[in-house]
Amino acid sequence: MKYRIIHLDETDSTNKYARSLADAGERDVCVIARRQTMGRGRLGRTFESPEGGLYMSFAVSSDDGKDRLTARAAVATARAIESCTGLSSGIKWVNDIFVNGKKLCGILTEGVWNGDKAEYFIVGIGVNLYGELSSEISDIATTVSDEGGLVPEAELLAKRILEEFLRCDDFFEEYKDRQILLGHEVTAYRGGESFNAVFEELSDDCGAVLRLSDGERLKISSGELSLRGRAYDEK
Ligand code: BTN
Repeated sequence: MKYRIIHLDETDSTNKYARSLADAGERDVCVIARRQTMGRGRLGRTFESPEGGLYMSFAVSSDDGKDRLTARAAVATARAIESCTGLSSGIKWVNDIFVNGKKLCGILTEGVWNGDKAEYFIVGIGVNLYGELSSEISDIATTVSDEGGLVPEAELLAKRILEEFLRCDDFFEEYKDRQILLGHEVTAYRGGESFNAVFEELSDDCGAVLRLSDGERLKISSGELSLRGRAYDEK
């Protein structure tokens, strides 16, 4: 295994911790925390991180862009969740893993840039294993335990995710097959605006190719999609 695992009881964000290690030259490390006090999500959101979850981050040097790395991590995590818990899951572009219509896991990939080249990326993965979720998210998020899955030791799941990530070069077809919004009418949220479209295709770099209501096609590689008619951050 390329990565040495470091366990923390608590930290603000494992992404931040892994980045400080990587900046000091320690890149073959995966940081796991029992809880985070300032877990970060995409688009500046917070990620609730009480005890009962797996919160892990590791550095990756890669010529792949952020979306492809996130996609690779999503496929690896979905496979690991299935083998460790028995739960089947789908992926909501670009970074969320869903089980039975609710979010079980979020992934945040952050680039550390040297000019216009990413020197390395930090991939951060949060999986809800057991425990109570707050009332703000309990309608849209779930845990392995609430879905009736086998609850694994956090470290075991982390190791399985890392193994899958390291061997998962051919993730594109599986990423596509697991997409829960592909082919559906969606609302896209990007840079403070929202618009309706059909999610027609995945581009090779794992962007979402949308058909707009005027017939134009638009590829997006940031932002968020939800099934049309659902509120922001719902499936
Ligand atoms: C999202 O849902 O928008 C992404 C959530 C990513 C959460 C994980 S938990 C481990 C790592 N540390 C963080 O602060 N965030 C990621």
